[in-house]
Amino acid sequence: MFLLLLIAGLGLVTLLLLLFAPHIRTYAAGGVCKSTARLDGKTVLITGANTGIGKETALDLAKRGARVIMACRDVEKGEEAAASIRAAHAEAQVEVRELDLADTCSIQAFAQKFLREVNQLHVLISNAGVMLCPYTKTIDGFEMHMGVNHLGHFLLTYLLIGLLKRSAPARIVVVSSLAHNFGWIRFHDLHSQGSYNSGLAYCQSKLANVLFTRELARRLKGTNVTVNSVHPGTVNSDLTRHSTIMTILFMVFSMFLKTPREGAQTSVYCAVAEELHSVSGQHFSDCSPAFVAPQGRSEATARRLWDVSCQLLGIDWN
Ligand SMILES: NC(=O)c1ccc[n+]([C@@H]2O[C@H](COP(=O)([O-])OP(=O)(O)OC[C@H]3O[C@@H](n4cnc5c(N)ncnc54)[C@H](OP(=O)(O)O)[C@@H]3O)[C@@H](O)[C@H]2O)c1
Repeated sequence: MFLLLLIAGLGLVTLLLLLFAPHIRTYAAGGVCKSTARLDGKTVLITGANTGIGKETALDLAKRGARVIMACRDVEKGEEAAASIRAAHAEAQVEVRELDLADTCSIQAFAQKFLREVNQLHVLISNAGVMLCPYTKTIDGFEMHMGVNHLGHFLLTYLLIGLLKRSAPARIVVVSSLAHNFGWIRFHDLHSQGSYNSGLAYCQSKLANVLFTRELARRLKGTNVTVNSVHPGTVNSDLTRHSTIMTILFMVFSMFLKTPREGAQTSVYCAVAEELHSVSGQHFSDCSPAFVAPQGRSEATARRLWDVSCQLLGIDWN
C-alpha cells in the first residue's frame, strides 16, 4: 500500500514538473540584460573565461563589438572556448592570455605583458572562481578560495588600476555570490590553518569580494571608474567540480538552475547598462540591486581586509 502511494506520489510530481516545465524554466532564468549598448572600440578583460559564466559573458560582450581578452589558466581550454565564440559570431575579436590566479608570479607576468601590449582597458570582469576545494594552498601559501577568488583578483586589479583610470570611463565587475551572506572574515585564521570547512572558505572569499568592491568604490570616487559586485544566480556550470554531492544535486535539479548564458546576464548588465554609468559600490543580482548582508556593509571590516590583503601581497595600495 505504502509503495503504491509512493509511486503514485512520484508520478504526480513528475507530471506536474512536466506540465509546468516552461514556467519553471522562465522563472529560473531570472533577469535579462535589456541594454543594447555597443562596445565598439572598447577593450574588456574577463578572468576565467574558458567555461561557464565567464565564457558566456565573453560571447555577449564580443557580440557587442568589444575586443575581449580571455584570461585563462588553461590556455588550450581557453583557445577552444575562443574558437567556439568565433564560430557563434564570426566578427568576434577574442584572444586568450595565460593567467593563473593561484600564483602571484603568473599575475605579475600577465599584467606586465598586458600593460606592454594593450593600451586601453574599459571593462575588467573578475569572474574566475573556485568552490568547495579540498584544503589546498596557492603557490604563495594562501588558502585556495581566499587566494584565487579574493587575493588573486585584488592583485590583478591593483596592477591594472592605472590603465583603467587612464581609459575612463571604465567599469569593474566583481563576480561574488549570495554565499557571501553565510561568510565572515576570520582575520585570526584567514587561511583556515586552524580548522577548515570548504563551504565556509568559499563563503568567506565571496564576502571578501563584496567588501573589496565597496572599499574600492570608495577609493575610486571621482575617477570615473566604477566597481560593482554581482550574484549571478545558481548556475549549472563546472563550479561544483570538487563536490560529487553538489554535482549530482545540480544535475537532478538542473531545470531549476540558470544556464551559464542566463547566469552571465547580471555581469553583462553591470558592464554595459547605460543607467549604471555612475553607480559604484553596489551589489546586483538578476540585473537589479540586491541585498548585501550586514557583514558585507561594514566599512571597518572592508578597510581591515584591504590592509591585510596589501600586507599578504606585499603591496602598498593607498
Ligand atoms: N555557478 C554558480 O551557481 C555560481 C553562483 C554564485 C557565484 N558564482 C561565481 O561565478 C563565477 C564563475 O563561476 P562558474 O559558475 O562559471 O564556474 P566554472 O564554470 O567552474 O568557471 C570558473 C572559471 O574560473 C577559472 N579558474 C579557476 N581557478 C583559476 C585560477 N587559479 N586562475 C585562473 N582562472 C581560474 C576556471 O578555469 P579552469 O576551467 O581552468 O578551472 C573557470 O574558467 C565564480 O566566481 C563563482 O564563484 C557561481
